[in-house]
Amino acid sequence: MYSLLRPLLFKLDPETAHNVSLKGLDVANSLNLSKLFAPTIQDKPVNVMGLQIKNPIGLAAGLDKNADHIDALASLGFGFIEVGTVTPRPQAGNMRPRLFRLPEHEAIINRMGFNNEGIDYLINNVKRCKYRGILGINIGKNKDTPNENAVEDYLICLDKAYPHASYITVNLSSPNTPGLRDLQFGEPLKQLLATLKERQIKLCAEHGRYVPIAIKVAPDMAESDIDDVSASLIEHEMDGLIATNTTISRDAVQGHRFGAEMGGLSGAPVTQLSTNTIAAFKQRLDGKVPMIGVGGIMDTQSAQDKTEAGADLLQIYTGFIYKGPQLIADALEGFNRASK
Ligand code: FNR
Repeated sequence: MYSLLRPLLFKLDPETAHNVSLKGLDVANSLNLSKLFAPTIQDKPVNVMGLQIKNPIGLAAGLDKNADHIDALASLGFGFIEVGTVTPRPQAGNMRPRLFRLPEHEAIINRMGFNNEGIDYLINNVKRCKYRGILGINIGKNKDTPNENAVEDYLICLDKAYPHASYITVNLSSPNTPGLRDLQFGEPLKQLLATLKERQIKLCAEHGRYVPIAIKVAPDMAESDIDDVSASLIEHEMDGLIATNTTISRDAVQGHRFGAEMGGLSGAPVTQLSTNTIAAFKQRLDGKVPMIGVGGIMDTQSAQDKTEAGADLLQIYTGFIYKGPQLIADALEGFNRASK
């Protein structure tokens, strides 16, 4: 079904295609027809970060930034869904065009810039949805919040998201918010993690429920950075690592007409970079911090490779745009092959 629709959608400008597809999926779901698009999934329950998850293939952050489409997306068979990135206050994001397809490379470049309706809007949607499966809420900082005050933004979102999330992702790795990636390193990272841990313990006591926190990192890290980040994650008892976000490298798409567009590159060109990052973290984290592997999962093989590199769960975004819902089943097969 998706292979019939894709050529039509790819004729539209990418952001319009995105909005049209999600609205169409909502309508299909409300008519109980979204099953037409869903592959057959043999669920495989896994337990990661203390969460019981019906299958290990999740939707990555950024596709449903405002949690407007949770029920429709869940109907396609994802084992878990991550919404956001959401910021304390609504913000428009960067000027259009800000999303580019590179079909020759099965890739996307985006510089959306955390366009979103703000945490209150997102939480309202989460409260209203019917979905009762595993839901991650991915949080960030507003563009006009200086890095010195970033922790305040994360705390505002953490407080509001905590009672409604299965887990919370702290996004430190979007290339489209100036300075954000600096929070991934050294003292700023340590301070941020210490503050988040303290608040998590307080919120756990208040709500009587422990909600795990995962940190999402970029694939553009030097080995020494991976050493530091791993040590900080262990020291501050973080519950999970999501590796990786999009890359700023353009080696794989040089010469393409959109190859020089600013932003983050995702899809097939990031597959190996992201798998290498997972493998490097695996060595250092030594099983102490579970990992969600994301970045260029386009088929069964790339899902298998990420799992073999050390991922405990997988997420997809760009592959889902290119391959459609069938990729959920294909990625699950890759995960299962690696786990045998
Ligand atoms: C993203 N991604 C993303 N990640 C995040 O943590 N917060 C976000 O708001 C977004 N937004 C976003 C928008 C678009 C258009 C794309 C393509 C991607 C990154 C995404 O979740 C994922 O980490 C990377 O895209 C790598 O995985 P794929 O796309 O290669 O499967």
